[in-house]
Amino acid sequence: MQESFAFRLPQEIYFGPGEGRRVGEHLERFGKRPLVVVGQRFARESGILEDVLGSLARYGLEPVVFSGVPPEPTLEVVDEGIRMAREAQCDSVVALGGGSVLDCGKAVAGVLPNGESVVPYFEGAPLTRPGLPWIALPTTAGTGSEMTNNAVLTDATRKLKKSLRSPFLVARVAIIDPTFTHSLSPYRTAASGVDALVQAIEAYTSPRANAVTDVLALEAIRLLWEYLPQAVREGENAFFRKQVAKGSMLSAMAFANASSGACHGLAHMVGPEFAIPHGEACGLLLPPVIRFNREVLRERYRDIALCVGLQGGEYEDWGELLARAFEDFVRRVGLRTRLRDFSVPREALGRVVREERIGRSILENPRPMAPEDLQALLEEVW
Ligand SMILES: [Fe+2]
Repeated sequence: MQESFAFRLPQEIYFGPGEGRRVGEHLERFGKRPLVVVGQRFARESGILEDVLGSLARYGLEPVVFSGVPPEPTLEVVDEGIRMAREAQCDSVVALGGGSVLDCGKAVAGVLPNGESVVPYFEGAPLTRPGLPWIALPTTAGTGSEMTNNAVLTDATRKLKKSLRSPFLVARVAIIDPTFTHSLSPYRTAASGVDALVQAIEAYTSPRANAVTDVLALEAIRLLWEYLPQAVREGENAFFRKQVAKGSMLSAMAFANASSGACHGLAHMVGPEFAIPHGEACGLLLPPVIRFNREVLRERYRDIALCVGLQGGEYEDWGELLARAFEDFVRRVGLRTRLRDFSVPREALGRVVREERIGRSILENPRPMAPEDLQALLEEVW
């Protein structure tokens, strides 16, 4: 845990049922022409896009819609968005969707005043100018992109997934409207909720954790552990949806200021290689990461275990207890817990761990993780 720390979030955060339909009110001050970034279907089919455009119209705004952002956005998609926003002379960005859409909108807003293409920044060049102001409107409760300063992007040719990171990428306004998640399928509810839970657990066990992120992470873990299974079963229940959205918001605030850990690092290696959705990759990879770290993070795992109501004695192996309970949890919300459930051939595991894919979250793991350790973790969960 860090004794000296900084804590950064979007300038304004609005939480509550109905808040999303007031977006025009918050956007008006940034100019007349926002780029509205949406995904392939959900925002349109659920009627949420129509509501948001209606709100913009009430304030006389003239939005340009950039639709069709795929899951795991590529550099090409971001460049297309930049081109569109530039041609239409957009002055702000609204990203309405899941984590992929938010990351794409965030990258477009961040890069646009800096250059024509995201590629050099993905390769490590710093953004030197503030981006366009952007508003995050998540339609899932889980990825946390509305709070963070990074956008996870994929270089499709190299199957390389990594973060574009800059203080200039943080949203100006984040609006969390739990009603936006009401029509999410049980599967997407589970996958994004497990992602949020893993992020909260990793924030609590991060070497960058601090007094503020600890409080946020534990409350996020408590809410998600209690209410996610119920929200998966009863998607129409407004109370369960609200509790999960709240848990996800607190999780995002925590991990945006601590960091995600080795489970996320591994998920970014495994996901693009075998086309495993991010939330599921996180869900199946956390137990072996907990087991690997259980000696060095004993007290932290004990705190989490107690927070979710697990019981143990003085000599309890808290990491093992938590890993097992978490595996049960993942099964309970209907997600897969083994790599072979995704038809991954065992012999393919050898090509996952590559030097260029080992990111910060693995290098900073509290117990040093060599490539052989990563390989062993994958074998364990095959
Ligand atoms: Fe995540």
